[in-house]
Amino acid sequence: MKKLFAGNWKMYKIYSEAVEAVKKLMSLTSPLPKDREVLILPPYPYLKSISDLISKKDGYFLGAQNFYPEEEGAYTGEVSPKMLLDVGCSYSIVGHSERRKYFNESDEFINKKVKFGLQKGLKIILCIGEDLTERKKGEVFKVLERQISKGLNEVKDDKIEEKLCIAYEPVWAIGTGEVATPIQIEEAHKIIRELLSDLFGEKGAKIRILYGGSVNPENIKDILPVPNVNGVLVGGASLKPESFSKIILS
Ligand code: PGA
Repeated sequence: MKKLFAGNWKMYKIYSEAVEAVKKLMSLTSPLPKDREVLILPPYPYLKSISDLISKKDGYFLGAQNFYPEEEGAYTGEVSPKMLLDVGCSYSIVGHSERRKYFNESDEFINKKVKFGLQKGLKIILCIGEDLTERKKGEVFKVLERQISKGLNEVKDDKIEEKLCIAYEPVWAIGTGEVATPIQIEEAHKIIRELLSDLFGEKGAKIRILYGGSVNPENIKDILPVPNVNGVLVGGASLKPESFSKIILS
């Protein structure tokens, strides 16, 4: 299983900065080690240009941070999977905690997106994770179980192990500089692995589980060897090619 290094740029960078960052990242990391893949998740307006830069390079992929689960239509401001695929995306994030929080995305709506995106041919990174109150109350298992069972309700695909990734992102570790400990990561990823095996049988063992939340060039050495960590979803540290490249080549 190749490890996936995904850079979620959120709502950062203007166009020229985005293009420069990708060029720099590729010069620092190409050719990639054979066991690694890089996924760049920039804002929508830069997708096509970045696709043109990376499409011929082995191991580099492009994805979106979100989409709307309809084929097309009068949905002002929204973007469909068909549009994303057409400009070179192969992945999209679904259910990031910032979308759950600021855009009130429910597990049911997230489930609709997972199913629709997969059906249209996108690979999906489903983000899950507890917040600090839930952790303090000892509800990590309960939250992960709910987000997985609802988010993946009736999700079926012959190649689910290639098309689905889960990102475990404890909300309290996102953008805070406070990273989960290797033990906390191991426990959560083990829970997720078991839930995936319950849902998908043997294929559940092959679905990549990424860790996300304040990953940086220093802590990556402790995170990557943790059992069931099959890659990372990086926010802040993916914005600078120098730091993202160190994470990728760690
Ligand atoms: P962070 O963000 O690395 O800045 O904590 C991670 C994410 O939100 O995916």
